[in-house]
Amino acid sequence: MSDILVSSADGITTLAFNRPDKKNAITAAMYAALADALEAADKDAAIRAVLITGTPGCFTAGNDLQDFLANPPRGNDSPVARFLRAISTARKPLVAAVTGVAVGVGTTMLLHCDLVYAAKSARLSLPFVNLALVPEAASSLLLPRTIGNRRAAELLLMGEPIEAEKAAAWGLINAAVDDDALAETALKAARKLAAKAPQALALSKQLMKASPEEIAAQMQAEMVHFSAQLQSAEAREAMTAFFEKRPPKFG
Ligand code: COA
Repeated sequence: MSDILVSSADGITTLAFNRPDKKNAITAAMYAALADALEAADKDAAIRAVLITGTPGCFTAGNDLQDFLANPPRGNDSPVARFLRAISTARKPLVAAVTGVAVGVGTTMLLHCDLVYAAKSARLSLPFVNLALVPEAASSLLLPRTIGNRRAAELLLMGEPIEAEKAAAWGLINAAVDDDALAETALKAARKLAAKAPQALALSKQLMKASPEEIAAQMQAEMVHFSAQLQSAEAREAMTAFFEKRPPKFG
């Protein structure tokens, strides 16, 4: 079965991470599948909303670290760059349902979604610096703007997970809901959006967002540092330490 499940019904395209044995860590092939599905949904007039979800108990552990080390993303046509472009410029409303862990891009992608619901047991984290990397997905711009500099520093510099209820109190997500109510809550929101006037919805979304040029420029700047850091000795040590299940040693 595919690592990204794509299905459409009643005007809603659902994208589901489906690689539970690796905590839904996202490979280049998965980024490409996500980009394809988002681009297709955006072009299809019958699709009025997109729902992004994971497997029970796991949204995604973020970038697949092994894949990233083996095939570092290069340039604007890399699958991860295509995905980030597609999610950050999507005209259709995006709803996310987060269970379990949302690590790295699992959390930064939420900054590009319009409505985000998380199970109360979910944990969100941005451990880029812990991996000797830098923020991506324009999170270095959008996170301080969304939750303020102090809180963004806790997430981006300290890299420690926060609980869904704190994320909701900070305004990073719309609501933390009981675990067994999450799927229904998110689907209900997607259905409500799908029933609204599509043009008014797309225009309103566009008006509410930061300028696409600003986001693209920030992503570009982040990618320069991200790619360089990925090749660095400190990142190699951090990622090797993860797979060897030991704390990293930075010189
Ligand atoms: N990339 C590649 N493989 C990953 C991964 C990732 N981001 N996250 C988890 N995995 C793999 C683990 O290596 C393990 O594989 P194995 O069974 O072959 O040993 C499997 O998924 C299960 O992960 P495990 O760490 O045992 O699960 P856990 O429930 O104890 O912890 C996490 C879950 C998500 C907290 C932990 O896996 C983690 O911290 N992952 C890294 C997250 C990360 O740094 N992402 C990148 C951000 S840029």
